[in-house]
Amino acid sequence: MKIVLLGPPGAGKGTQAEWISAEYDVPRISTGDMLRDHVARQTQLGNLARQYMNEGKLVPDDVVIQMMRERLEEEDCRDGFLLDGYPRTLYQAQALDEAGGLDLVLYLDVGDEEIVQRMSGRRICPRCGEVYHLVNDPPKVEGICDKCGFTLKVREDDKESTVRKRLEVFRLQTAPLISFYASKDILRKVESSGSIEETTANIRTVLEDLEG
Ligand code: AP5
Repeated sequence: MKIVLLGPPGAGKGTQAEWISAEYDVPRISTGDMLRDHVARQTQLGNLARQYMNEGKLVPDDVVIQMMRERLEEEDCRDGFLLDGYPRTLYQAQALDEAGGLDLVLYLDVGDEEIVQRMSGRRICPRCGEVYHLVNDPPKVEGICDKCGFTLKVREDDKESTVRKRLEVFRLQTAPLISFYASKDILRKVESSGSIEETTANIRTVLEDLEG
């Protein structure tokens, strides 16, 4: 199964991606995580991406497309994958089509104010990438990752002004993908403004419908 999770920043793509990739036994591939890893290792790509990311802008298409082309050629993607945060422009979507197409695009739909609230409470583990929320999904011990015991931190691009910029970028550059995939009849919209559990249930309904 080749699945894409599409949605504005903070829609819950990363939160939902974990169980979907486990259930379908496909790798979860997050361009945001890959780029943050490059930034942390200070690679050439990371040094280029840092500024775009901190300003809430998209990293240039050619860089991201090349990075994903290489990733999708790896052995573990042969029978499918779950993409989180890619594609994000029509150009990226066309590149992905040329590489073989998709089975399903899940569009997680959430309003702007709910997103700003979610991002202000997000905490991430810089070591293992686990995502938490101070109120909606807190760690067992305050400030400490349940999985690896590392100290949690706020993501660099989660301050409100940057989140609002990212929402604007989503509307301008990524939202056109909604009609692009709807016209191919592979887009399913998922109401995602409720709780994490409600969104999980809504995704499950879509997946069960598809399996007939
Ligand atoms: P990326 O890391 O992909 O960020 P994003 O798409 O903006 O999405 P987020 O990771 O912020 O949110 P999410 O939807 O995964 O939500 P989460 O589950 O964490 O990209 C970062 C940057 O990298 C981009 O701005 C760009 O610069 C660059 N980049 C990445 N991909 C690129 C590409 N393809 N092309 C060019 N540039 C690219 O949830 C958010 C919070 O809410 C968490 O705290 C969570 O616990 C909580 N939460 C989740 N669901 C719920 C719920 N239902 N109710 C209440 N709380 C919830």
